[in-house]
Amino acid sequence: MKKKSIYIVINIFLTFLASCSTSSNGIQILKELSNPVANDAMAVTLNSFNASWQPVEGINEYRLDVSSASSFSTFIEGYENTIVKDLQKTISNLKSNTSYYYRVRAYLDGRISSNSNTIKVTTDTESLPETALKLEATNFFVGIAVNPIRIGNTKYNEIYQREFNSITAENAMKMRSILKGIDSNGSLIYDWSQSDAIVDYAEANDMNIHGHALIWHRSIPDDLQNFNGTDEEFRALIETYITDVVSRYKGKVDSWDVVNEAIADNSTSTTFRQTLFLERMGEDYIKKCFQYARNADADVKLFYNDYNMTFDQDKQQAVFNVIDDLILDNVIDGVGYQMHINSDFPPKSSIQSATELITQRGLLVHFSELDVRTNQNNSFSQFTDTMALRQKIKVKEVVSVYNDIPNAYKYALTIWGLKDDDSWIIPEYGNMDWPLLFDNQFMKKEAYHGFVEALNN
Ligand code: XIL
Repeated sequence: MKKKSIYIVINIFLTFLASCSTSSNGIQILKELSNPVANDAMAVTLNSFNASWQPVEGINEYRLDVSSASSFSTFIEGYENTIVKDLQKTISNLKSNTSYYYRVRAYLDGRISSNSNTIKVTTDTESLPETALKLEATNFFVGIAVNPIRIGNTKYNEIYQREFNSITAENAMKMRSILKGIDSNGSLIYDWSQSDAIVDYAEANDMNIHGHALIWHRSIPDDLQNFNGTDEEFRALIETYITDVVSRYKGKVDSWDVVNEAIADNSTSTTFRQTLFLERMGEDYIKKCFQYARNADADVKLFYNDYNMTFDQDKQQAVFNVIDDLILDNVIDGVGYQMHINSDFPPKSSIQSATELITQRGLLVHFSELDVRTNQNNSFSQFTDTMALRQKIKVKEVVSVYNDIPNAYKYALTIWGLKDDDSWIIPEYGNMDWPLLFDNQFMKKEAYHGFVEALNN
């Protein structure tokens, strides 16, 4: 009997507990506190969001944690076990494009529930106003080296048209692409398909066309290389070739690199690169070629184009000796500095002083083939943030030097390819690199933003 009455008393007590889990004033006093259920974040902006949760019956105080770590190992300042007497809280002063986590607990009279579910929220990404290189560069053309095969590709096409207002054929207007051979009568055999494709595309899209390059020692067709006629016959072939090409695109092509890379590296003031043209036509072959181009089109702008011009002073000297001669003959309009450079060389000051060698002669300046290597020593297998930043700084320097040129001498700044994995740098040097303004996914790189920033400072 005694046992039974104890059992009954316990039972009555338990029943009382169950029935009295909520007292008359509505506050839970005896049951364990239920965990709140957190809602997805609302009103997410660049630097804030609104955290909210479902009410727990009878509770009007919650404790909120906000962290940038899903483990809540650290807390956003002011948001560790923070008292909130509401069902929501706006968290502000956050970083953009960053993930945060929040959770809440119910609180009552010194007792606290377990955590709610954890909510992840990512603040918005700062989106710079949409722009385009050609819109930023108001006093010069922004050019791109293009291959005919890519102009039909939607993605390339979209970026070419959005960003650039000048085109250079990466290879399609070089002699090996156009001159297919010499027939048995000594006539030149042409294939205009590649060059026409570039010119038609540029015309259809209202872009400036820079012709590249009439004479280059690395683009000589075999029939010309092995030509066994006399030197005079060779000269005549070259005159015909230049005349035919320039005439075909008269009024369409705005400028030509007439001779490309004619001076040897580390040259003394008289050293020409040893080429077939030098061998067959003599030292004044450059002048002759410019004259043939001028004869074919009186209005087209004629350029001499070369590399390492910003730092190799012997080469500078030798090139400008030739250029000064062309100026005397009134057959040259501008000079192209290729700008195949590294992210740590050459310094801005030498790019600047080399550029003045052109402007002080009253010629147009073309930075004609910009790409910026970041892995010339082959020490990296990945493109890191540090490399991206260095490359950006160098691009910014180049563009700011260009932009500082008096408008009368500005012409174009051309990028040598659209996205990193298209770049000639990789096959040319045989190691990985990321030299251009767009990555392999067609996304703008820091280098792109460097271009834009240089024009806005
Ligand atoms: C390069 C092209 O990018 C490559 O596709 C091609 O195989 C070789 O020529 N200087 C110039 C450019 O003037 O014509 C060269 O272009 C790069 C160096």
